[in-house]
Amino acid sequence: MTSELIQRSQTTQTQQPIVDSPKNCNFLGKSRNPIGYMLRERIPFVLIGIAIATFFFNTFPQSPSSHIPIADSVLHSELALPTRRVLYEEGSGSSIGYGRSSVNMGGKVPLGLKRKSLRVLVTGGAGFVGSHLVDRLISRGDSVIVVDNFFTGRKENVLHHFGNPRFELIRHDVVEPILLEVDQIYHLACPASPVHYKFNPVKTIKTNVVGTLNMLGLAKRVGARFLLTSTSEVYGDPLQHPQAETYWGNVNPIGVRSCYDEGKRTAETLTMDYHRGLGIEVRIARIFNTYGPRMCIDDGRVVSNFVAQALRKEPLTVYGDGKQTRSFQYVSDLVEGLMRLMEGEHVGPFNLGNPGEFTMLELAQVVQETIDPNAKIEFRPNTEDDPHKRKPDISKAKELLSWEPSVSLRNGLPLMVSDFRSRIFGDQRDGGGSTLSKV
Ligand SMILES: NC(=O)c1ccc[n+]([C@@H]2O[C@H](COP(=O)([O-])OP(=O)(O)OC[C@H]3O[C@@H](n4cnc5c(N)ncnc54)[C@H](O)[C@@H]3O)[C@@H](O)[C@H]2O)c1
Repeated sequence: MTSELIQRSQTTQTQQPIVDSPKNCNFLGKSRNPIGYMLRERIPFVLIGIAIATFFFNTFPQSPSSHIPIADSVLHSELALPTRRVLYEEGSGSSIGYGRSSVNMGGKVPLGLKRKSLRVLVTGGAGFVGSHLVDRLISRGDSVIVVDNFFTGRKENVLHHFGNPRFELIRHDVVEPILLEVDQIYHLACPASPVHYKFNPVKTIKTNVVGTLNMLGLAKRVGARFLLTSTSEVYGDPLQHPQAETYWGNVNPIGVRSCYDEGKRTAETLTMDYHRGLGIEVRIARIFNTYGPRMCIDDGRVVSNFVAQALRKEPLTVYGDGKQTRSFQYVSDLVEGLMRLMEGEHVGPFNLGNPGEFTMLELAQVVQETIDPNAKIEFRPNTEDDPHKRKPDISKAKELLSWEPSVSLRNGLPLMVSDFRSRIFGDQRDGGGSTLSKV
């Protein structure tokens, strides 16, 4: 065997003496003319290769879907990073165009078909208004995701939905981006009472500006319809009475309430810019003072203040001379208005409030009649930038949404009182505070 190998190597060496050097390739050994060698020996194989490749790609064309998983997975992993928010806000616009119909079909129900159950995001859904809205959405068959950081909201407000597969609760701050697949977004997340929004004014304005930007970005990303809960505070201390949506307001931009007032005004601006510039379907509600079960006790809002004080047998504190006016809307009326606005065809803004106008002294009187006729009234100096008059002109909502409030202060107040009584005195029999069965 060994001798055989030696013999073979010897034979090879004698037949092909120049095989080791890369400079001395085989074709040089076979032909003195490389071009002639290429034409004669290699070109036919190259041509056959091209022919096979052409045949293969024509017979089995590449499916476009074969690329998508790679592109998608890259895209999704990028989108999953909060820092990439700008990517999906700006990037997807060019590919889908800015036409309303092509961008955003969220929330539309085909005519003639049974109403499709929607996936609805309610930011601030563990708060006072949000939790009543969630009740209504769940009761009509939708799936609801609540996003809330529990600054002023409470788990107890939505506890009765725990265990329902159509309900999800996520502890999250809207100042950070979040990705969710939804058809509609009700954006309520923001502290609403002066005590709470003045507690950390910078956080309040961040919630209104960055939080609203994030939710608008999400609406654009998933093609959802977006509803902003703005406020009558955008009218500031109004020079027009009652306030119609056409009034631009009289707001102090540097006062202690500006974080809320100007924050909401900026949120409205952002909402309209996303609508006009990017084709997002949006709705804007300007909410006037609302009361009802599940309001925060002692949050500085006048109705909750008076009710809690009367129940505790404390004097009712009236700020200033008590002649400033407010209108008070029961929460079920507001929820009805918000849902009509979301489902309707009009962007707004719409005033949603009860035009019944009460001075603070008149309100104190209704509270006395409802809870304790002997309750005393105590006057205190007025707070800074407190508007003197507030009364909504709701003609636009009446005409375009066929909406108007139906619960008077004298009918609504007792429903709130029973909830406050059970929470203040620890009687949990009526602690749920639902408005559904009561009004
Ligand atoms: N209730 C009213 O009279 C009234 C009037 C005008 C406007 N509004 C608007 O309606 C909305 C709801 O008001 P409300 O009375 O239910 O107030 P609320 O304080 O009871 O509810 C606000 C909810 O938002 C949550 N939230 C606050 N900041 C957040 C953040 N950064 N991230 C996530 N969640 C956050 C709170 O925890 C709370 O659950 C607010 O946007 C408010 O400005 C209410």
